[in-house]
Amino acid sequence: MKKNDLWIPSVLVVDDDKLIRAIIVDVLRSTGCRIQEAENGNDALEMALENSFDLILCDVIMPGMDGLEFLERFRNKGKEAEILMITSSPNLEIAIETMRLGASDFIRKPFTQEDLHAGIQKAMERVRLKALTRDYHTTLEEKVFQQEDRIRFLFYETIQSLIYAIEAKDPYTKGHSQRVTTYAMWLVKELDLPFETATEIHIAAQLHDIGKLGVPDNILNKPAKLTGEEFTIIKEHPEEGCKILAPIFPKEHLDIILHHHEKWEGGGYPQGFSRGDIPLGSRIMALADSFDAMTSRRAYRRSWNIKETFAEIHQCTGSQFDPELVDPFIKATEKNIDTLEVPGFEHLEH
Ligand SMILES: [Fe+2]
Repeated sequence: MKKNDLWIPSVLVVDDDKLIRAIIVDVLRSTGCRIQEAENGNDALEMALENSFDLILCDVIMPGMDGLEFLERFRNKGKEAEILMITSSPNLEIAIETMRLGASDFIRKPFTQEDLHAGIQKAMERVRLKALTRDYHTTLEEKVFQQEDRIRFLFYETIQSLIYAIEAKDPYTKGHSQRVTTYAMWLVKELDLPFETATEIHIAAQLHDIGKLGVPDNILNKPAKLTGEEFTIIKEHPEEGCKILAPIFPKEHLDIILHHHEKWEGGGYPQGFSRGDIPLGSRIMALADSFDAMTSRRAYRRSWNIKETFAEIHQCTGSQFDPELVDPFIKATEKNIDTLEVPGFEHLEH
């Protein structure tokens, strides 16, 4: 039943005989439905196509458009309703034809009050059952949508918690994940990448350094350049990150994170991939990540200004960075750099 039981079935009675219509309407009134009448097939078809009826009671033999033609034309328009045919024909073939055209039952004329009551009662039960099923599916769909929203919300909350965890461990790079995500999204927009790819890169960018959770604090927060041994430990973070995220992320997201320190001509880590073997998301990440590293202050060096940073990026084009991405990245950065109002970006010097 519709919500709060307010639904009232709507019924169309089609018969050229005024008296028969009156008898049918009289019985229908006791079911509490809303009733409309038509005295011929043409009027009935017009009304049935304009309105939405739950049940149509239709005489078979009528002058002009008869019940069979009405039914066929009604069905051909793709309309749905419970159909109860009324026929005075003793011809079983006609009854079968009405069923073939989608009528669910028929009442034979002349009918008794009991026949009419029973036929209408059965038809109304089918109508109510259909409404119940429809309502059940709608409620079920609503619940599924609600659950999907909840799962999506929890998923993003989880990501946020993981970002806080990285930043709490490594306050020196606080805001790094957020800034890298912003820079990567500028480039994604400039390249006009599809929404699905953009989403993968967005999530990967937020969590690209999650593997640093496993790096000892004295290395992560060392206020000086790292030794070779310390750098070897740091270099494990893409693989460590993938291990942390593997239970909740698909491979596409993990691959972007795994390869975000690869270099265009090879020689990066962890696998020394080069060129097209490096996922596009990782190549975008490499630019965004390096841009942030260069423009961020370190204990052992000042931050670089935009001019110096662009010069260094150009210098590394074709060796570290995908040459196809560098110009769009610089274009996107120049376009967006003045729009930054997010705390944590104030370190950028033009
Ligand atoms: Fe990293």
